[in-house]
Amino acid sequence: MQKSSMIVRHRLFDRLCHWFIVVTAFFTILSGFSFLYPSFQWMGAVLGSPQLARVLHPFTGVLMCFTWMLLLIRYYKHNKFQKQDAAWMAHMKDVMLDNEDKIPPAGHYNAGQKMLFRMFILTSVVLTVTGFIMWQPYFAPHFSPEVVQWAIFFHALCAIVLLLGLIVHVWMATWIEGSIAGMLYGKVSRAWVRKHHPLMLDESEQEKH
Ligand code: HEM
Repeated sequence: MQKSSMIVRHRLFDRLCHWFIVVTAFFTILSGFSFLYPSFQWMGAVLGSPQLARVLHPFTGVLMCFTWMLLLIRYYKHNKFQKQDAAWMAHMKDVMLDNEDKIPPAGHYNAGQKMLFRMFILTSVVLTVTGFIMWQPYFAPHFSPEVVQWAIFFHALCAIVLLLGLIVHVWMATWIEGSIAGMLYGKVSRAWVRKHHPLMLDESEQEKH
């Protein structure tokens, strides 16, 4: 493929952040779920042993959440809602049924990705704040038992919401052919952009001026 027909979608720094988050999320989510339910305890082995998982989970979580927030800040400008997003949402049925010719054109991100982006912001902030409140033996002793109990509740709730959102995120990424290659190598073909995010071509033109 000619170089001129390729368009930059993800910069190197963002791609490194993204894949670093995937690795830390793997350890954080599996170890976190091992605490949630007795029959999930075996998942703690991902960090060596259940005891090590208890010690290391907050550290991998902090690494994940801070890198993740950095990525969210970097992608914020592409995730603002625009007028074409309402039309895209109204055609959700066509999106699910893969009626490509009926789906309204999307910009850099489609409305579904923008909704997930908001869920990512909410869960990353709540998981970080509640995680610090619960963190034994460093921070938890500074809070009342009631506050710690509420923090545990919201931490677990957000972890479940995040996991469901991630399942959708990975499903969308694998469903749209060429999307993962874009996150791996940074560039996508002009034909890919025209098919999945046609208004991105106008947006990048506007950015040049
Ligand atoms: C194996 C797991 C994952 C895969 C295969 C994957 C794949 C992708 C792909 C292909 C994109 C680019 C989408 C596009 O160009 O339209 C992307 C973007 C993104 N991913 Fe992931 N991802 C994974 C896990 C995660 C995790 C664990 C997080 C955070 C907790 C995350 C957060 C993001 C964010 C914030 C973006 C920026 C664009 C957006 O708002 O959609 N991803 N991912």
